[in-house]
Amino acid sequence: MIYLDNAATTKTGQVAQQAMVACMEECWGNPSSLHTPGQRAAEVLERAREEIASAIGASAQEIYFTSGGSEADNQAIRSAAALGRRQGKTHLVSTAIEHHAVLHTLAALEKEGFTVTLVPVDESGIVKVADVEAALREDTALVSVMFANNEIGTLQPVEEIGRLCRERKIPFHTDAVQAVGHVPVDVEQQNIDLLSLSGHKFHGPRGVGALYVRRGLPLFPLIEGGAQERGKRAGTENTPAIVGMAAALKEACAHREENAARERKLRDQLIAGLEQIPHSALNGDRERRLPGNVNFCFEGIEGESLLLLLDDKGIAASSGSACTSGSLDPSHVLLAIGRPHEVAHGSLRLTLGEETTEEEITKTIQAVEEVVAYLRAMSPVWRQLQKGERAYVIQ
Ligand SMILES: Cc1ncc(COP(=O)(O)O)c(C=O)c1O
Repeated sequence: MIYLDNAATTKTGQVAQQAMVACMEECWGNPSSLHTPGQRAAEVLERAREEIASAIGASAQEIYFTSGGSEADNQAIRSAAALGRRQGKTHLVSTAIEHHAVLHTLAALEKEGFTVTLVPVDESGIVKVADVEAALREDTALVSVMFANNEIGTLQPVEEIGRLCRERKIPFHTDAVQAVGHVPVDVEQQNIDLLSLSGHKFHGPRGVGALYVRRGLPLFPLIEGGAQERGKRAGTENTPAIVGMAAALKEACAHREENAARERKLRDQLIAGLEQIPHSALNGDRERRLPGNVNFCFEGIEGESLLLLLDDKGIAASSGSACTSGSLDPSHVLLAIGRPHEVAHGSLRLTLGEETTEEEITKTIQAVEEVVAYLRAMSPVWRQLQKGERAYVIQ
């Protein structure tokens, strides 16, 4: 199988697997217990916290472990909103292309009396700093802008937005789930107050993540119970998963530059190959995107069929994000960059990983060409386009 769905999840790496097995065998105690097995677990937990912190330029006390990116996003936003409410600030700013973990949390807060401004992005999928600035108000309690988009891979001007927020003393959250381990992330340099990350996007296990919270910024718990995570996240820690995540991130950061350079080269080959298909278009900015992200629209076809036929040919891809597939709504991200509904339906996301080879890229280009031609031959929309009864959206 050619696996090109690394944005959905990555294969748990050897390094993470070994760290997890060792942890389960040797450090299986409850980290809250005072006896030796418990303290052994507490020790590896704190070492993992230090490793995660150092990967993003934070200190260990600023890291809270969660069940993944979704929980980290929910807690960051709800906590900043609760703090805002106490100060009489009930306005929240974010963007139209966020992950649903952010968008749905904001929608829920809207029902609880908050006002939400979703800043648009330009046609390349990047938010303008000036638009974020224009959205800020006296009563803005939080700005949340993702580091890298999960569908089209675009990298947002996080550092500049962070600076803007810092000047106005507005907490700034970034969902860096797709970025950490793949591009440089530094909470100090990039003026970040809250950051979400998730283990399974960099060859760690699923169901584990972390929330970075700048020292001094109050954090409210989502889950009440025991005093774990300094009272901010109750529940006995999933030590093996946390240790596996930390080992994977350390490994990803150690090889980040070489992996990114390789992926970028293969990504650009894949883009160049797919652009040869008539009436196709790359979604998202060509340069300011994740090293491994390719996302295309093909006119006159259905993304779901494309995906299934590629699967038959041994290629695992995605149309839209994994979280939205299963619904027939076109991707909110593609709509936000101005793709009309009918074109947004014909989208394909291919996300490369450190194991992707040049041979796989060549095979993929050929397979996509064949499948697109096959589907177009059966498509009534394509026939209309060809006969001139309908205008092409993608030239
Ligand atoms: C940008 C982004 N945020 C949040 C999440 C959710 O992370 P998790 O699956 O760990 O809950 C994802 C997962 O796809 C994502 O891509």
